[in-house]
Amino acid sequence: MKVIYKKSELKEIVKEAAKTKDIALVPTMGALHKGHKSLIDKAVNENDFVIVSVFVNPTQFGPNEDYDKYPRTLDNDIKLCENSGADIIFAPSPKEMYDEIYFEEKETTLVCPPYKYVNKLCGKSRPGHFDGVCTVVSKLFNLTKCKRAYFGKKDAQQLFIIKKMVSELDFDVEIVPVDIVREDDGLATSSRNTYLSESDRIFAVNIHKGLEKAKELYQKGIIESQTLIDTAMAYLKDFDVDYVEVVSLEDFEKIGTIKNEALMLIAAKTPDKKVRLIDNIEL
Ligand code: PAJ
Repeated sequence: MKVIYKKSELKEIVKEAAKTKDIALVPTMGALHKGHKSLIDKAVNENDFVIVSVFVNPTQFGPNEDYDKYPRTLDNDIKLCENSGADIIFAPSPKEMYDEIYFEEKETTLVCPPYKYVNKLCGKSRPGHFDGVCTVVSKLFNLTKCKRAYFGKKDAQQLFIIKKMVSELDFDVEIVPVDIVREDDGLATSSRNTYLSESDRIFAVNIHKGLEKAKELYQKGIIESQTLIDTAMAYLKDFDVDYVEVVSLEDFEKIGTIKNEALMLIAAKTPDKKVRLIDNIEL
C-alpha cells in the first residue's frame, strides 16, 4: 500500500490503474475506526483497486466547529488501511487540496446542493457544511476517477445529498451505501466518540435506545411520526436535542403518517461536554 500526499502523484497512479482496473474510493476524514473499516472492507471485496482518502476538510467545518481539534491519527489510519488491503491512502494537506485563494479569502469554487436538501436536519444547524462536503467529494471523484464510492448510512443526509449530487451533476460514479457499525452497547461508532467523558458515554447510548424503541412501536403498527418522535424524545430528557425527525427515504421530506420506507433521525448534544452525536434507524 502506498501513502500519497500530492495530487500530481495520485493522478499518475490513477492514470495507470484506470487502464486495467475499476477504481473504488472511500472518502474519510481519518481517525479511522471500525465504522470506516467496514466501508474499506466492502470496497476491497468488491473492487480491484481501492483508494482511501484521509482529509480533514476545512470547507465543511463552521467557524465555531471542531476543525482544529478534530482527531488526526494518520499512523493508525495507515495501519488500518494496510490491514484491510487498500491500495492507496491519499492524505493531502489543505494547501495541496485547495488553491491559495481559499486561504487568503476563505473562498473557493463550491458545489452547493439545493436549499431544499440542506435547510433541514444537520444542514440547518451547520450552514455551508454540505457545500464543503459536496465540493471535496467532487474533487475526490475527479482526482481518483473512481467507478464506485462508499458512504456510511450513519451520515444519512450526507448520503442522500451525495446521491443527488451524482445524479444532478452527471458524475459517472456508483454510490454504495454501507450499514451503520455500532459499539457493543449500541452507540454508533464515531471519531467524535473520543470526545465523550465517562458520564457522557452512559447518556450517549440512550440515543440508540430511543431509536430502537420507536422502531419497535412502528413494527407494532404505530405509523404516526409524532408518537414515534415523542417516544424517542423520552430517552433524550438530559440532552440538548437538535432534532428528532421522521423523513421519507425517497426525498428526505418530513412525514406525518408513515406509508412508505422511512428513516428516523436524531442529532443531540450530550449533557456534559456538549458533544454533538447523530444516529438514525430505518423504520
Ligand atoms: P467521516 O466522518 O470520516 O466518515 C467517512 C465515512 O465513514 C462516511 O461515509 C461515514 O458515513 C462513514 N462512517 C462513519 N462512521 C460510521 C459508522 N459507525 N458506520 C458506518 N459508516 C460510518 O463523512 C465524512 O468523513 C466526510 O464528510 C467526507 C465524506 C469524507 C467528506 O469530507
